[in-house]
Amino acid sequence: MAIKVYMSTAGRPLDPAEATISVFDRGFLYGDSVYETLRTAGGAFVDMRRHLERLRTSAAGIGLEVPYTDQEIRRIVRETCEAAANPDSYIRIVLTRGTGALMIDPRVSGDPQLVVIVKVLKQPPLALYERGISAAIVDVLKPGRRQLDPSLKTGNYLNSILALQEAIDGDAEDAILCNAAGAVAEGATSNVFMVSGGRVLTPSFETGLLKGITRTVVVELAESQGLEVLETTIMPDQLRAADEVFLTSSVRGVMPVTRLDGVAVKDGAVGPVTRRLLHAYREYIDAVARGEGGPS
Ligand SMILES: Cc1ncc(COP(=O)(O)O)c(C=O)c1O
Repeated sequence: MAIKVYMSTAGRPLDPAEATISVFDRGFLYGDSVYETLRTAGGAFVDMRRHLERLRTSAAGIGLEVPYTDQEIRRIVRETCEAAANPDSYIRIVLTRGTGALMIDPRVSGDPQLVVIVKVLKQPPLALYERGISAAIVDVLKPGRRQLDPSLKTGNYLNSILALQEAIDGDAEDAILCNAAGAVAEGATSNVFMVSGGRVLTPSFETGLLKGITRTVVVELAESQGLEVLETTIMPDQLRAADEVFLTSSVRGVMPVTRLDGVAVKDGAVGPVTRRLLHAYREYIDAVARGEGGPS
């Protein structure tokens, strides 16, 4: 089990100590990069096709050309996973605008730098899924489409870092951010769902959020189970009054939230709909591991 890092400058997977980046790299200097985080299950990529699609959308959104085909990126990721030889891997694919003169002008950048970091997949302990986590609706706002467009997964995460810091300072384990209009948008590194009267609600894209791949899968799973799903505007008081709240992301899957702003969500236990979707998502991952997950 190991950490391996592919760097386009080296052209092969490296040990972490060898994997160094220029101090002039714009990803380092300005967060001028895009990235994806995904995982394997039974050695198979989970939702690679959707992650590559989103990487391209993010890159196009910041005017960054991706100088690789999907097949090339898949090959590089596969080789890095093979070199790491983990039972299952956490994979981060990063594309920066490269190095250049010390100016923000994007025209002075050189070639994009591709970095693929592979390490052993470490998920939260099962006990956390049983008790659920605490979250806080923080003061830090989700930027709008005309600021740091939240639908693009860029390397500029300071906003989420500050949101998480605020949550931690308030004794919560995770942060939920609202948009400038005061509507609930998403978590620091996750999408938000609530259950009310048996219906599953999640903020609509118009709210301004990342099109989470787990969010999409969970919506599909919920609908296939006959649950009604509504993509809509959710205000903080609605979220606080919800029967159930949970977060979704590629590494954590479905994570129940059982305390919100220091108060128990309903009775403070993981609710039945969350439990159902948590299991459905685990089965989805298990199917990928068995090679029954369809094209990825
Ligand atoms: C801001 C933000 N929203 C949502 C997500 C969840 O996205 P996904 O389900 O594709 O991992 C992430 C994941 O890192 C994120 O950073």
